[in-house]
Amino acid sequence: MAKGFFISKTVGIVGAIVGVAAVSTIIALSVVYSQEKANNNQLTDEGTTSKPPVTTPAPSNLPWDKYRLPKSLEPDHYNVTLWPRLTPDKTTGLYIFTGDSSVEFRCVEETDLILIHSNKLNYTKFENGHLATLKSVSGGKAPSIKSSWLKVETQYLVLQLDGKLTKNQMYQLSTKFTGELADDLGGFYRSEYMENGVKKVVATTQMQPTDARKAFPCFDEPAMKAVFHITLIHQNRTVALSNGEEKESSNINMDGQAVQMTVFKPTEKMSTYLLAFIVSDFEFISENIGGVLIRIFARKPAIDAGQGEYALNKTGPILKYFESYFSSKYPLPKSDQIALPDFNAGAMENWGLITYRETALLYDEEYSSNSNKERIATIIAHELAHMWFGNLVTLRWWNDLWLNEGFASYVEYLGADNAEPDWNVKDLIVLNDVHRVFAIDALASSHPLSSKEEDIQKPEQISELFDAISYSKGASVLRMLSDFLTETVFTKGLQSYLDEFKFGNAVYTDLWKHLEKAVIESGTSLPSTVHEIMNTWVLQMGFPVVTINTATGVVSQKHFLLDSDSVVTTPSIYNYEWIVPIKWMKTGEDQESVWLNEKSKTIEAMKASEAQWVLANHNVSGYYRVNYDEANWEKLLTALANDHQLIPVINRAQLIDDAFNLARAKIIPTVLALRTTKYLIQEREYMPWDSALGSLDFFELMFDRNEVYGVMQEYLKKQVTPLFEHFKNITDNWETLPTGHMDQYNQVNAISLACKSGLEECQTLAKAWFKKWMDTKINPIEPNLRSTVYCNAIAAGGAAEWEFAWSQFKSASIAIEADKLRYALACTRQPWLLNRYLEYTLDTNMIRKQDATSTIVYIAGNVIGQSLAWDFVRARWTYIFTQYGGGSFSFSNLINGVTNRFSTEYELQQLKQFKEDNAETGFGSGTLAVDQSIERTIANMKWIAENKQGVLKWFQDEVKP
Ligand SMILES: *[C@@H]1O[C@H](CO)[C@@H](O)[C@H](O)[C@H]1NC(C)=O
Ligand SMILES: *[C@@H]1O[C@H](CO)[C@@H](O)[C@H](O)[C@H]1NC(C)=O
Ligand SMILES: *[C@@H]1O[C@H](CO)[C@@H](O)[C@H](O)[C@H]1NC(C)=O
Ligand SMILES: *[C@@H]1O[C@H](CO)[C@@H](O)[C@H](O)[C@H]1NC(C)=O
Ligand SMILES: [Zn+2]
Repeated sequence: MAKGFFISKTVGIVGAIVGVAAVSTIIALSVVYSQEKANNNQLTDEGTTSKPPVTTPAPSNLPWDKYRLPKSLEPDHYNVTLWPRLTPDKTTGLYIFTGDSSVEFRCVEETDLILIHSNKLNYTKFENGHLATLKSVSGGKAPSIKSSWLKVETQYLVLQLDGKLTKNQMYQLSTKFTGELADDLGGFYRSEYMENGVKKVVATTQMQPTDARKAFPCFDEPAMKAVFHITLIHQNRTVALSNGEEKESSNINMDGQAVQMTVFKPTEKMSTYLLAFIVSDFEFISENIGGVLIRIFARKPAIDAGQGEYALNKTGPILKYFESYFSSKYPLPKSDQIALPDFNAGAMENWGLITYRETALLYDEEYSSNSNKERIATIIAHELAHMWFGNLVTLRWWNDLWLNEGFASYVEYLGADNAEPDWNVKDLIVLNDVHRVFAIDALASSHPLSSKEEDIQKPEQISELFDAISYSKGASVLRMLSDFLTETVFTKGLQSYLDEFKFGNAVYTDLWKHLEKAVIESGTSLPSTVHEIMNTWVLQMGFPVVTINTATGVVSQKHFLLDSDSVVTTPSIYNYEWIVPIKWMKTGEDQESVWLNEKSKTIEAMKASEAQWVLANHNVSGYYRVNYDEANWEKLLTALANDHQLIPVINRAQLIDDAFNLARAKIIPTVLALRTTKYLIQEREYMPWDSALGSLDFFELMFDRNEVYGVMQEYLKKQVTPLFEHFKNITDNWETLPTGHMDQYNQVNAISLACKSGLEECQTLAKAWFKKWMDTKINPIEPNLRSTVYCNAIAAGGAAEWEFAWSQFKSASIAIEADKLRYALACTRQPWLLNRYLEYTLDTNMIRKQDATSTIVYIAGNVIGQSLAWDFVRARWTYIFTQYGGGSFSFSNLINGVTNRFSTEYELQQLKQFKEDNAETGFGSGTLAVDQSIERTIANMKWIAENKQGVLKWFQDEVKP
């Protein structure tokens, strides 16, 4: 899956106008999983409910009380026919689907019990009086079914037999069932949208991680690979899609209705979580590249407007790139990609039928910013990478999810770079993943990448793994690995790994074995095995700060904790020491590499002369922070001030980010960190500016309600004015766009910061553009600048501006435009408008369910909206929790988002009270976030107490005329 609620850098910075600074700690994921209803009563017999017999006292050790399947049965193939209804049932008013399914499986251990996953499905009884029929495939007689019932808690259909299944025999189990096609974004669900005033319904799926069992009974674990023969029944004039190619389509009569039946060619051997079934009346565009049919599907008006073209242009080349990167042909005859109006994650890598949020696939020159475009290219690359890494070779169990997601999150940059070579997009992993996850992984409440298989059992435990650690830390350490092995060795190991395990399953250490083999063959020298080096990064949480004393040459490492007072209670077998690859340089000398594989050692070469500075972690290819002796810091600051180009651009961004975080951790003085921003007056590059804005976000959050705020804005205005002027000049007074991708980003930063810090020329410009739009109804604002301009104009305006933006939001013809407005609507300074907007978030006619939590977080990012959003979330917690899913990722975003600014005793007490009051309802996947928020609030309080005076004074001195 790709990250769900994406906060683009540009939006994040823009947000700072009213203080949305949450970006760095927001975990960019949100898949809402359906919540088991307490009194779910699922067993039906042709419409009449019969209660599942209460058989087992809990807790117990019976097989159906365990969340993992027994190892006795292995599926071979399934035949599944599903019929989703796109109009509500006349009697119940429910949208439903009906289906029948049969699965052929092998008995690998004698047993008289069949457990197969099933969730929220109602079964039709057969003549045998049971919920299923069983027959032997290889001749002979199958034992008969003694009892059949549903175990709701562990999501099983349970069949007890009156005799044993024979080892190595094949059997076939058949069922008929009905399920609800709910709007819950999980399993087989429905998405709705309006087209020319007519409501349209799409039936679609999101199976990962454990919702295939909501569509049909199946052995729903990633290692239970099988072949799937899918048939979809659907209304006339709709299109049915699934993982395989359409084999035939015919008109049939079902229950007196003339409908179509589409049969798909059997899939490859694959995991259940990668299945997809979609019925819609979407249109498509297509292309055949090297024998692979590539199709982009979307709503008809979107296709007619050419919004699928960019995706179509890029998919073929990226697919070809990965074929060569993995040295493995794309194994399917087609690759469909479809944009859905309602979709919770960013995208999902269903094999052969990838699903996307509309904003992650549809591009329109008139509406899309360069950031939107970059996201489309990277997300397509992310999902296509999964076609091999994840789909062809699948991790055995969810505990290794980090490898699957971390890998795709790393190579998405390689794929996008191949598709758009002028962008330098590979560098951005440092801002988007490394720096972002550092913020979370530096907390004592972080967790290691790898989990034990036995610790991950329940669906909500699986869902909790889809976090920034798995995605961004996974990506960062794999990038480091590829860097120290070299890309040639890395891809060689990767290729032989894929070749050994294709159509099967692996564990993460299997990849290390193949990489080790490639290391030996290439003669690369490492201080230890790949396995031992990587264990230090994978099995313990956090990362080190490497300290270099350039006077003595002593290099040492220490677990970096953002809050120096926090206590790490989880022991690590590596004692929080890492095997660290260090690439470093000295003024005027070549880059060198060295390993730090002990707590501390002396590296003579790192001793610097009076005139030399040392800089380590070249291009931030390593997953660690760097600190220096004071003299070296001074020399680096001087270098920045005198000739900043001497330091590579990524490292300029690093120096700022490291300094601010080292200061947070009380390793260096806060004033030293602030001094890294002084040279920005000469800086024109995006990455250092963005790093500074990200670092200052925290200052913004801590000070935007007190007297430091004014003088801080004055300083920032002084720093950003030359940048603003620079962009004004190179764009011919805002008439054209800067040519480079990064320059376009930095133009947005310049405008956001200039407007926010009160540069009048900027504010006037934003207001005038917006007014022109309101007056003429023709939008004159360049797409790249829209988020920031909308936000500034709405913040400066009143109800008229807000209502205008709302009407534009409701009538937007492309989700990318709607998203910019949805964000900007949170920028108003009118409490009543903010409160009303909060109410809208829980009304699906106003705000789609997929967007609810991110909208609340946007509002909380506004200094005025903060307390309103917190009150709102507190008051509605039970409702939000039950309606928006128990096992969802988005709760951690929500809780972190609304409590980000907390820094007072009063807020701490409220947070503790909130935890206590809702102990019974619980926080689902937000549980950890509640504790992290408490930890963060305490740290913030201390930080303000210790730093406020010093920071105030520093800013005052800097702005003195
Ligand atoms: C699936 O359908 C095929 C073709 O009709 C048939 O040969 C096979 O036995 C069926 N398998 C199951 C499990 O129903
Ligand atoms: C399944 O059965 C339950 C209990 O009778 C009922 O409430 C629910 O609506 C049924 N679902 C469907 C999709 O028919
Ligand atoms: C569905 O389409 C088929 C062939 O296109 C046609 O024969 C049939 O009448 C249609 N049924 C309805 C209800 O429109
Ligand atoms: C897609 O490619 C075609 C042909 O190269 C080009 O004309 C078109 O502008 C491209 N469209 C987009 C949106 O990139
Ligand atoms: Zn993914």
